[in-house]
Amino acid sequence: MAVTILAIESSCDDTSAAVIRDQVLLSNVIANQDVHQKYGGVIPELASRAHQQNIIPVVHRALEMANVEVSDIDAIAFTSGPGLLGSLLVGTSFAKGLSISLNVPLVEVNHLQGHILAHFIQKPDQEPVQPQFPFLCLLVSGGHSQIVVVRDHLEMEIIGQTLDDAAGEAFDKCAKVMGLPYPGGPMIDKLAKEGDAKAFKFAKPQIPDLNYSFSGLKTSFLYFLRDAVAQNPNFIEEHKADLCASIQYTIIEVLMDKLVKAAKQTGIRQIAVAGGVSANSGLRDRLVEEGIKRRWSVFIPEFGYTTDNAAMIGITGYFRYLKGERTPLSVAPVTRIKL
Ligand code: KG4
Ligand code: ZN
Repeated sequence: MAVTILAIESSCDDTSAAVIRDQVLLSNVIANQDVHQKYGGVIPELASRAHQQNIIPVVHRALEMANVEVSDIDAIAFTSGPGLLGSLLVGTSFAKGLSISLNVPLVEVNHLQGHILAHFIQKPDQEPVQPQFPFLCLLVSGGHSQIVVVRDHLEMEIIGQTLDDAAGEAFDKCAKVMGLPYPGGPMIDKLAKEGDAKAFKFAKPQIPDLNYSFSGLKTSFLYFLRDAVAQNPNFIEEHKADLCASIQYTIIEVLMDKLVKAAKQTGIRQIAVAGGVSANSGLRDRLVEEGIKRRWSVFIPEFGYTTDNAAMIGITGYFRYLKGERTPLSVAPVTRIKL
């Protein structure tokens, strides 16, 4: 019998609901929160309030678009962490309330697993293209930068991770010092297309093993701009595209160096990327190029599944549901959890 899952994601600043039947996505509705833009970053209290306003209409819309009645739902999947506590609480409390009223089980989902398992979302009438196990996943978001060995849907091991800032954070913070709005990643991506990636050179961090560090790069970018602006107050305006292209190029180099090393060390040639930063066009192009050069099979998610969305929570909830995992009503969200 087909399994229908209603999924809810509210870990940061996007409120999202999706309906998934077996592995097939029927709807995926996302309400972004523009309220944070003028502050240059997510304000937790405002995010939580916006989730409260958005969650009911977003869930309604997801059910409507999927053409599914509440009585068709077999389980409710929701993000229990990691994320912002106030944001997680809204999705978790809503999922609990709905689970009681519909008398269906709850399945909690780790947001990071969700990003990775987005590769298993299927579309109606589309041949699935999915990585084979084991595969390596470069998980790059606003809060995480990790290299993960994925042995099975729910069996994952982190073999490298950032020791400080995440790649998305590096994009956002560098954008902020250039006066670009939050989130900075998409803006840098757009401006970088018109710039010269070799115009400015920034030192790459020397970190052992498969780990990352982005805080030094961010600081050297900041100091470089401070000195340049002292000489020429219009420096940023006059060189914006080149600055974006150069910092993006450096971040991608850092990410790719360790990914190549991980592929060599593990001998794994199925390579996937996931998380908000996987929307970056420079990173996507570079993965394709390396894939051809190194004979990797490369898996890049659709744009809609890169940044936060409930479809990825639905597919993860589905695999957990099949495994018999059920979450008690006593569950509480956790802001920091591992994969
Ligand atoms: O996965 P996500 O939506 O949220 C977290 O779980 O953190 O990732 C958000 C991050 C932000 O830092 C944002 O700037 C970055 O993903 N991002 C991008 C692009 N689109 C989103 N970074 C670089 N290029 C992009 N096109
Ligand atoms: Zn995320």
